[in-house]
Amino acid sequence: LELQLNLEEIEKGGYDHFMLKEIYEQPRAIKDTYRGRLLADQGIIRMAGIDQNLEKFLNANRIIIVACGTSWHAGLVAEYIFEDLARIPVEVEYASEFRYRNPVITENDILIAISQSGETADTLAAIKMAKERGAFVFGVCNVVGSSIARETDAGAYTHAGPEIGVASTKAFTTQITVLTLIALKLAKEKGTIEESKYHEYLVELEGIPAKVERTLKTNPLIEEIAEVYKDSSNCLYLGRGYNFPVALEGALKLKEISYIHAEGYPAAEMKHGPIALIDEEMPVVVIATRKGHYEKVVSNVQEIKSRSGKIIAVVTEGDQQVTDLADHVVEVPETSETLTPLLTTIPLQLLSYHIALMRGCNVDQPRNLAKSVTVE
Ligand code: G6P
Repeated sequence: LELQLNLEEIEKGGYDHFMLKEIYEQPRAIKDTYRGRLLADQGIIRMAGIDQNLEKFLNANRIIIVACGTSWHAGLVAEYIFEDLARIPVEVEYASEFRYRNPVITENDILIAISQSGETADTLAAIKMAKERGAFVFGVCNVVGSSIARETDAGAYTHAGPEIGVASTKAFTTQITVLTLIALKLAKEKGTIEESKYHEYLVELEGIPAKVERTLKTNPLIEEIAEVYKDSSNCLYLGRGYNFPVALEGALKLKEISYIHAEGYPAAEMKHGPIALIDEEMPVVVIATRKGHYEKVVSNVQEIKSRSGKIIAVVTEGDQQVTDLADHVVEVPETSETLTPLLTTIPLQLLSYHIALMRGCNVDQPRNLAKSVTVE
């Protein structure tokens, strides 16, 4: 037993929990994901699974993304990226819903299944159904040789390394990295992106690990914020555009490991319901980076403030307007709007980690949850 405990300590590499280790591994994990694929100086993205099926991707009428949990959130981010850059219509579906309706699938559809474990039962079943109906199925998995990786026609691994903490962290950012590479590659091939913009993106993506590293330096500040809100019973997460899925993911992280009720919402939808919940007891996490509907988010922040909500804002370095209004501010480095989720998600992971820890929760193995859901 003692030997086993020691082994676990070694595996944690000096961190108290796997989740924290995996959060801190993200700069390296993202690099491993794009290594050998992103050749920024040559202006090339090389991905065998796409290169070998390029015609299919270029002729696709539509991409359907299926996934569960955090992987579904990565799918939502991908929807914005694919439509924005490559101009391909995208639908994102919960695998469990998709498999039990009677979806219209044609041979010109591509189904992308996203799964860290590659073993999620609903995602696997959705793949089988789409294949039967003639769609081309592409997998984005982390676990090499997993059922989903084997069942798909082609795919791209995330190369994040083993993820042990039940709450997914580095799987999410590396899934987004892979999907961004695919979208950029298709955009270039389709000619839906300007040459200079394409090159800018490659360079910017290559620099993301260093910016994640810088974002991780906010950890002590986030710990202080966690101390203030650890006893809350509710929390709201708001974001717009690319940061809307990040809000959903932030809320999921808090729910999963701290058992605080949390909801993610598109910031503008707040006035259609959640605003009724806001009072001085309600912490509201707002993602308000400078690029992407900033002025609109500022007015959402004002609405929260005038109802005495407590505002924890994730902003771009050097921000003024939201910083003046918010109770707490966490800065992330500036990047292109498309890549912001890779940065803004980091403070939210850390916030849930610290709150869960302070509440005495089992961070790595939260109650009732499994790392891999192999039953429907
Ligand atoms: C479980 C895990 C989540 C994960 C989801 C989908 O609920 O606890 O962290 O996001 O399954 O898993 P997958 O392996 O398919 O990404």
